[in-house]
Amino acid sequence: MDVIHSVAALRERLQREPNNVFVPTMGNLHEGHIQLVRLAKPRAACTVVSVFVNRLQFGPREDFDRYPRTLEADCRKCREAGANVVFAPDEREIYPEPQTFVVEPSELQHVLDGAVRPGHFRGVATVVLKLFNMVRPHAALFGKKDYQQYLVLRDMVRQLAMPIEIIPAETVRASDGLALSSRNSYLSPTERAEAPHLYTTLQRAADAVRLGELHGRVELQATQALAARGWQPDYVAVRRQNDLQPATGEDRRLVVLAAARLGRTRLIDNLEIEL
Ligand code: PAF
Repeated sequence: MDVIHSVAALRERLQREPNNVFVPTMGNLHEGHIQLVRLAKPRAACTVVSVFVNRLQFGPREDFDRYPRTLEADCRKCREAGANVVFAPDEREIYPEPQTFVVEPSELQHVLDGAVRPGHFRGVATVVLKLFNMVRPHAALFGKKDYQQYLVLRDMVRQLAMPIEIIPAETVRASDGLALSSRNSYLSPTERAEAPHLYTTLQRAADAVRLGELHGRVELQATQALAARGWQPDYVAVRRQNDLQPATGEDRRLVVLAAARLGRTRLIDNLEIEL
């Protein structure tokens, strides 16, 4: 496995690869990322993993500075999982000049996480477009834990006619249900014990939706249940899977999404519902 830091060296290395499959990450890899690498491997002769903490997608008061950077361990895990290339650029390599051209995602950037984190999906879409131009993959994998991110990138590729297949992967969970996330490492032991309740809340909300409960009522009850346990919820929302708009009576493919803070840590999770 090659560990490459510059765009020039990456392009040279990938010249000899007729096609490659790509797993973009911000590092601090956990089993969810490694699962993406395992799913990627059979799809092409060359699996590329990028490790880059993208300043552009963090708000001014968010955790860019304390985001865990663990490149050595990440490379070891990628090697064990069978990746062929790790691309770990520094900021000057990705942003050699101020980024004045950006990707403005569709409607999706104004709802849910887009509303709570203004500019976040612009930052994600912009860096992923740049990474795609550097790696030139024929397919890329994204975990469905970041459901809205997956939809933004799926729509970007389709609307900009990029010849890249976007492949979603199921969320990987700890045995107690907590969705794996690099940010779980911020949780204190007490918070870690509480954290699986985000998923429990989603499961209860999904059950209520299946029983025909009004979505507004489900959202309110779930938000109140989290707040009663000491969380600070940003939202619990029942939406259509395809565009995250509120569902009508006709919609059968739904997703319930939640974002909430536990102490200083913001966690997100979601659960798809097929009616
Ligand atoms: O999901 C992530 O880790 C990041 O948002 C991504 C897609 C690598 C872009 O920085």
